[in-house]
Amino acid sequence: MLNKIKRWKNQSSSSELRERMLKIQELQIPSHIAIIMDGNGRWAKKRALPRIAGHHEGMKVVRKITRLANQVGVKALTLYAFSTENWKRPKLEVEYLMKLPEEFLGSFLPELVEENVKVIMMGDKEMLPSHTRNAIERAMEDTKDNTGLILNFALNYGSRSEIIEGIKEVLKDCKNGIIDENELNEDIFSSYLMTKGLNDPDLLIRTSGEIRLSNFMLWQLAYTEFWFTDVLWPDFAEDHFIEAIEVFQNRQRRFGGV
Ligand code: IPE
Ligand code: IPE
Ligand code: MG
Repeated sequence: MLNKIKRWKNQSSSSELRERMLKIQELQIPSHIAIIMDGNGRWAKKRALPRIAGHHEGMKVVRKITRLANQVGVKALTLYAFSTENWKRPKLEVEYLMKLPEEFLGSFLPELVEENVKVIMMGDKEMLPSHTRNAIERAMEDTKDNTGLILNFALNYGSRSEIIEGIKEVLKDCKNGIIDENELNEDIFSSYLMTKGLNDPDLLIRTSGEIRLSNFMLWQLAYTEFWFTDVLWPDFAEDHFIEAIEVFQNRQRRFGGV
């Protein structure tokens, strides 16, 4: 009996979810969604587990949300996976985080290829251990011709250093006559950032109740809609993602106009 009720509950919630999925697709879907996936450590702590157990659980959510984003027609999904500040964490935790891309792509890459997802990354690749870099580069290579969702991992990413690096490149190109400093504008400068070729995010999601950017996409988020939730990333489910899109669709974006 209990099992029957459980099954019924699951079925009804998934049909409700399907209905909400269809409904959001009747309106404008945010073309680029960026997510600060936060709260893995607290999720683990609440269960008296090591922090890395939270990261492992969080990886499963990445898979779920990537699928859903692709299904509802999101064009780009940027996921903050490791910041330039996260090197300050205990060595074992950093080592585990650097193993996650291999673990994730090891089991999920065939599915990404199949589902037409294109993997890219932004961040300083040079500082990544070679096993991490290789896993990402292989995924990028294997999915380079895919035309569906762009899955952009922000890995060893920091927005301030991205901007500084961009400025250095601009200065170099000015000096070499590749661009004229009088012609430098926002569009041209954007093309010197790691998000080159991507539109700015329409929607930013941050989980775990923290209301800050933590050095994430400072330039690109200038006119993005923000949605914060107390839900910890490993608990983030399909209906939370749908809810964020529903809220987005009820916002009025004015971009400074009336
Ligand atoms: C986010 O979860 C994952 C990374 C920053 C890599 P945290 O590890 O920051 O989790 P909390 O904030 O300690 O709960
Ligand atoms: C931001 O989360 C970085 C990632 C989600 C990868 P943090 O947990 O590192 O941010 P702070 O320290 O709370 O600002
Ligand atoms: Mg955190």
